[in-house]
Amino acid sequence: MKNTPINYDIVRSKIEESGLASVGKASIREIVRLINVIEKATGEKYIRMEMGVPGLAPSSIGTEAEIAALKRGVASIYPDIEGVEALKNEASRFVKLFLNIEIDPSHCIPTVGSMMGAFASFLVSCRRDIKKDVTLFIDPGFPVQKQQHHVLGFKYETFDVYNYRGEKLRDKLESYLSKGNISTIIYSNPNNPSWICFTIEELKIIGEMANKYDVVVMEDLAYFAMDFRKDYSKPGLPPFQPSVANYTDNYILLISSSKAFSYAGQRIGLMAISDSLFVRKFPDLKRYFSSDTFGYAMIYGAVYSISSGTCHSGQYALHAMLKAANDGEYDFVEDVKEYGEKAKIMKKMFTDNGFRIVYDTDIDQPIADGFYFTFSYPGFTGVQLSEELLYYGISAITLDITGSERKEGMRACVSQVKRTQFADLELRLRKFYEDHPA
Ligand SMILES: Cc1ncc(COP(=O)(O)O)c(C=O)c1O
Repeated sequence: MKNTPINYDIVRSKIEESGLASVGKASIREIVRLINVIEKATGEKYIRMEMGVPGLAPSSIGTEAEIAALKRGVASIYPDIEGVEALKNEASRFVKLFLNIEIDPSHCIPTVGSMMGAFASFLVSCRRDIKKDVTLFIDPGFPVQKQQHHVLGFKYETFDVYNYRGEKLRDKLESYLSKGNISTIIYSNPNNPSWICFTIEELKIIGEMANKYDVVVMEDLAYFAMDFRKDYSKPGLPPFQPSVANYTDNYILLISSSKAFSYAGQRIGLMAISDSLFVRKFPDLKRYFSSDTFGYAMIYGAVYSISSGTCHSGQYALHAMLKAANDGEYDFVEDVKEYGEKAKIMKKMFTDNGFRIVYDTDIDQPIADGFYFTFSYPGFTGVQLSEELLYYGISAITLDITGSERKEGMRACVSQVKRTQFADLELRLRKFYEDHPA
């Protein structure tokens, strides 16, 4: 029996019993399940960094508004598919005050999380032109959006942006878009999993390419305002959350309440479609929808078919949180800064013990400290490392499943790790370092 922080034999047997061909290639939810089983069998608590669950309490502004809405009886009534008017108005204000972008309230649509916002967007954006049937992922990225493509039977291409930062991004994008079959570009910013944040120059390049090749850009803002190197928290004042929307009219913004407002459980998000894209007509949409107008097909074709709108009380929760943020009464960014502070401490523990940060810069600046960071260990692939770390009570996912070419890399999510676990984390990392001299 090997002397590892978590009982070697139990971990070994639970991995075998899981039936997973490879821990490193398992999905996030499969890893969650495996760690739950090992924790139960060993009685040991893991440093759980595999899943991006908010680690903070939800905003009481949201929960109180939701309770009040439920008490008013909204639960019995189907919500309007277009969304509650008050929420649409605050959403439009939010976009103006925090992104400095004008979007009409009628083009801001509540969704069942950004997950559903992305699904609905793919349904419309990827089918608007018969000649354009491929999505381009600027990776690394959120694996479930590729799963959505598999479920839908949609085609995609992907590249790892690691080697194409800055001006190099232009030629790389052009090499895909010039083929003429790309309908949609998707990326998250800040990026899950790497936490890179595109520079203004890069967003401008993406916008220019979208204009040149008439491609729709889906900008996934799941980590809105969470690049803590800049203060995006003041409504109406610069700096604003950077966005491709400054450089093209072909965009859909996906705004999630899950991380910025710690409201993941209620599955409420927003899709904001540019005013000009919303009203554009695409005859090929008629193959699937009753209307050829982009926004109409989105609401009365896609959103209607998927869920017939979005949970009524959740909309009131989001309305209240956005209104408080817009009015300058609720600093939602301050609430989530804890993630950045924890990341700074945790990254140092990793690098002090032989680990390296994989995506470590935004061109010429050190990468921000935020919800995720990426790491590797000399001599290991990510797949090997993910399994070996299980014996040390540390769980994370490999970058392999995110479209990254950095096969040595893993993603750590800081949200669920409590500060009270830092001592354990440090001990386990040190033991790993001793057992595997780099
Ligand atoms: C990049 C990205 N997009 C979307 C989501 C899902 O957001 P929501 O909870 O609003 O569905 C996540 C959640 O982890 C994410 O990381």
